[in-house]
Amino acid sequence: MSVGIFDSGLGGLTVLKQIVKLLPQYAYVYFGDNAHAPYGDRSEDRIYEFTKSGVEFLFRQGCVLVILACNTATAVALRRLQQEWLPAAYPDRRILGIILPVVETVVTMKVKRPKRIGVIGSRATIQSNVYFKEIGKRDSSLLPALFQKSCPLLVPFIEEGMHKSIPAAMILKHYLRPLKQKQISVLILGCTHYPMMKKKIQSVIGKSVAVIDPGIIVARSLKQYLARHPEIDSRLERYQHADEYSANVSFFTTDIAEKIKASIARFWGRKTDVRRVSL
Ligand code: DGL
Repeated sequence: MSVGIFDSGLGGLTVLKQIVKLLPQYAYVYFGDNAHAPYGDRSEDRIYEFTKSGVEFLFRQGCVLVILACNTATAVALRRLQQEWLPAAYPDRRILGIILPVVETVVTMKVKRPKRIGVIGSRATIQSNVYFKEIGKRDSSLLPALFQKSCPLLVPFIEEGMHKSIPAAMILKHYLRPLKQKQISVLILGCTHYPMMKKKIQSVIGKSVAVIDPGIIVARSLKQYLARHPEIDSRLERYQHADEYSANVSFFTTDIAEKIKASIARFWGRKTDVRRVSL
């Protein structure tokens, strides 16, 4: 059986890349719901239904564990899926989100300047207040210096492969200005698409700000999870000599496979087969 990676589109590739680097021995199935991206401007019910269909597709592909490599799906749908759907529909499978490992890292990390945290994400993620709630539960003294900004136009630019364009840079500056004014020292990339613009984000927000990319954190947390859960780990296929370049990864999208293939190849650094599915 495999590990499933779910995202509304291409963003989950930034997480998949780090996971495969750290754990190349497993088999992975990536599902991008590109036909419905971005999720961030949709209603909670639509995000829930799309996420459920994508996860179910990954289960049917033989995934024992699915990672919602999408902040929006994690913020809006994860808890409901885990509580209302999974126990009855697939009691022997698991769904993990990506927000808590990032929150735990940020709460405990040391920064040279006073810890003033910025969070950027989709409209649905920011409106869910998930970062406020989860950071507040762990250290409420951080809440007065926690600032959020939704950046709804970045995902369409990234999905279209236009994130290195001048208009994208102008929009990014506009989004980050209020966080810069708050003199943040930590910036959480609360959307898995944003690491594709990380260099630009770092240059706009300033070198002294620690920009937190969820990919590496989620990869480490998956490794720890599998060590703690041998009942899941023992069901995963293993490829002893795989490395990050030869790992067993298959890709599925709900959009036109040719269009997505080019983006995945650009991001993944090699040609890949991408299959289209309609759910
Ligand atoms: N990658 C998704 C996330 O992390 C993209 C958001 C969207 O589809 O709007 O939130």
